[in-house]
Amino acid sequence: MSEYILEMTDIVKEFPGVRALKGVELKVRPGTVHTLMGENGAGKSTLMNCLTGIYHRTSGKIVYDGKEVDFKSVKEALEAGIAMVHQELSPVPERTVAHNLWLGRLPLKNGFMIDHKAANEKAKVEFAKIGLDIDPTTKMKDLTVAKMQMVEIAKAVSYNAKIVIMDEPTSSLTDAEVEHLFNIIADLKSKNVAIIYISHKMDEIFRISDDISVYRDGTYIATDKKENLTMDKVVSLMVGREVTNMFPKVDCPIGETVLKVEHLKSGKWVKDVSFELHKGEILGFAGLVGAGRTETMECIFGMRHLDEGKIFLHGKEIKIKSPEDAIKNKIALLTEDRRGNGILGLLSIEVNTGVAAMSMGRYGKLKLNHKLMKEDALEYIDKIRVKTPSSKTPIKNLSGGNQQKVLVGRWLLTDPDVLIVDEPTRGIDVGAKAEIHSLITQLAGEGKAIIMISSELPEVMGMSDRIIVMHEGDMTGILDRSEFDSEQILKYATGDFTNIQ
Ligand SMILES: Nc1ncnc2c1ncn2[C@@H]1O[C@H](COP(=O)(O)OP(=O)(O)OP(=O)(O)O)[C@@H](O)[C@H]1O
Ligand SMILES: [Mg+2]
Repeated sequence: MSEYILEMTDIVKEFPGVRALKGVELKVRPGTVHTLMGENGAGKSTLMNCLTGIYHRTSGKIVYDGKEVDFKSVKEALEAGIAMVHQELSPVPERTVAHNLWLGRLPLKNGFMIDHKAANEKAKVEFAKIGLDIDPTTKMKDLTVAKMQMVEIAKAVSYNAKIVIMDEPTSSLTDAEVEHLFNIIADLKSKNVAIIYISHKMDEIFRISDDISVYRDGTYIATDKKENLTMDKVVSLMVGREVTNMFPKVDCPIGETVLKVEHLKSGKWVKDVSFELHKGEILGFAGLVGAGRTETMECIFGMRHLDEGKIFLHGKEIKIKSPEDAIKNKIALLTEDRRGNGILGLLSIEVNTGVAAMSMGRYGKLKLNHKLMKEDALEYIDKIRVKTPSSKTPIKNLSGGNQQKVLVGRWLLTDPDVLIVDEPTRGIDVGAKAEIHSLITQLAGEGKAIIMISSELPEVMGMSDRIIVMHEGDMTGILDRSEFDSEQILKYATGDFTNIQ
């Protein structure tokens, strides 16, 4: 018997014009967490899609549980014991949680009618196994991302999965939710389940992994036990070059006030927010997921109704009722949720890059200047290294991180006075992170006023001139760069004000 539960060898996957996997291997031991690492577009998700039957591999061999396999569909893989919790979740949102859990195998009564009562009761039993407290009659769409993922995990457990694949599962979870997930992972491990884990978050990878495999540009680089690796080693394996300056902050002169907001209030999310933002400044917003930072920015960008408060731009009060108003006033917002608010999936990278600038008339009114639009797209593809065969490629064919890069380009192209970026590097690999950081710094140097929301403390501390910390809709602290201190920021963020001088 092999020591591996899964052996993938020489896997090749070709898409029209793209060789996404060029002969890749992966060997996973039972009862371990095996992390896949690589830059955006390296082929991690594609490799998993080939395993679970979402894509048909061009060639290569897969041995699972001692037998050669070739799954034709997700259902086949699931029934054999391989479950995947997706990077882009795709359950049936309008149906109940129980319905989603038992999809394709709902209990019946009288031979043909769905037995909802039994479905709900059995769901509760499954949820209890992973310490999950959800009413099975809730509609899937009403769950948070974290809960949806937990339902998917419960589903995997209910199929007695031997392998559970998690593709960037923690990207939108709160710290407490991450801890819950890690507990579940430890529990699955103890039952000899193997977890294949994909993430760009180094600290978390080094916390939970047993083995790490690294991929670069569709090729397999190496696998090793965590003990034999360091973060620096993994980064250099991933990137194939040194990433030296993660936070290339340069001091630049800070000018007059560009944006001023007074006593913003909106529902229960934004309680009383006032601040000033200056020319050339990067103002960081720190806080935990759910602190009201995104909601504050949505008020400024006209996506959310203001109950109270005033917004001033260059000293004049402005009324922003819609994103169009904001864009006209040269305010841009890169949203955190690229699926919900940003991506035009079927359309090309060119259109996705140009669409905001287009609405400001950059490409003409009557006849579109396609040539300029293409040039703009190519410029950003080059500048932030978007991995794509062409600027005409539909954006949905790009890897998750590369989609995010295109959206960064979209807002930079509008040449805003105020640029708000919300978790700009979520899902982005270390190399590209450094590129985006250096772009943001450069923009500040050109005199733009920038707001950066980030849940990653090193990022927000590395990049900002000042940091505002929020907690449950209120501002709990403002720090100048000379006062930055991670402990202090965490205290403000958690609403723990003891021992703060
Ligand atoms: N359906 C598709 N059609 C064409 N090309 C595709 C398709 N799916 C993936 N690709 C290409 O395959 C390559 C690998 O993408 P993949 O999504 O596997 O990367 P990844 O390692 O998961 O990256 P990320 O960290 O950004 O999620 C990319 O160049 C991508 O453009
Ligand atoms: Mg991916």
